[in-house]
Amino acid sequence: VAPLKVGIAGLGTVGAEVVRLIEAQARVLAGRSGRGIRVVAVTARSKAKKRGIDLRGVEWVRDPMALATHPDVDCFVELMGGAGDPALSTVEAALNAGKSVVTANKALLAKHGLKLAKAAEKHGGALNYEAAVGAAIPVIKTLREGLAGTGINRVYGILNGTCNYILTRMEQEGLSFAECLADAQRLGYAEANPSFDVDGHDTAQKLAILASLAFGTKVAQSAVYVEGISSIAPEDLRAAADLGYRVKLLGVAVRTAKGIEQRVHPTMVPKSSSIAQVMGVTNAVTIDGEGIPPITLVGPGAGGAATASAVVADIADVARGIRANPFGRPISQLRDTKKAPMERH
Ligand code: HSE
Repeated sequence: VAPLKVGIAGLGTVGAEVVRLIEAQARVLAGRSGRGIRVVAVTARSKAKKRGIDLRGVEWVRDPMALATHPDVDCFVELMGGAGDPALSTVEAALNAGKSVVTANKALLAKHGLKLAKAAEKHGGALNYEAAVGAAIPVIKTLREGLAGTGINRVYGILNGTCNYILTRMEQEGLSFAECLADAQRLGYAEANPSFDVDGHDTAQKLAILASLAFGTKVAQSAVYVEGISSIAPEDLRAAADLGYRVKLLGVAVRTAKGIEQRVHPTMVPKSSSIAQVMGVTNAVTIDGEGIPPITLVGPGAGGAATASAVVADIADVARGIRANPFGRPISQLRDTKKAPMERH
């Protein structure tokens, strides 16, 4: 069988690690997929930047659109980020050309997921995005495949590594918000614009994706109530601790009598609860399914290696010829998303 030919747009920490992993894990990946996986072409803003990866024999394409529509590329891997162009137009073009797409771009999916899923459905390509939520934690597959036969009542958790890292260090070391954020940026956890992290929008985007998979609704970031952590000071965390609580930024999507409620806000959780034990850049997602005790997935939610791990797994699925409906069911079966009135908790 001919190898799967991959084109990668964006060679930051994640993209470079994807190239390295495909090479380092070539035998294992070929064994799992039944065919080889080859990076044939790449594009990035700077060609000169040192990345520590071997790109000999890989074509350097100048423009992301030329890569997305490249006749030699079977699978377009979008790691540029951002909900607008070039991510949106290139992913759309690749899908319209019948190619498969792998992306880690939660902003793109939360804003335009439905439109992109339509293009994938129409032209037969896969649209895989495991890395968009919880990085290495296989939460998309868990909701879409693992729990396909189970009704879901609630999905909630810590979905932003940067915020959890900041809250953890503020509480444990009494550092200021600004110091902790600067460290999260230095470690490569934060978004290019870190207000997406600290103002809760990153969590909202991930929650909108999880809610769509869990409840069969059309993914819509606009349906999420959002409040971030930027006004929290070490004193607030101390006051919560005195009362036996920790503060966590939670994303919660829950089925209510009035519809699917989706919200993101700082939450006081009892110190003895399992969610209070989740520290640092770690993410945790709990899924309450009908008739079964809650399932919690915990793991690294940000960082180059954790994100690349999920991207490579998605590429392996494309190589194997596995094609899921991007949001778990055909587009025609997804219900409209209304912003449900918030209930008092
Ligand atoms: N900025 C994100 C976070 C990256 O901190 O969780 C992973 O999506």
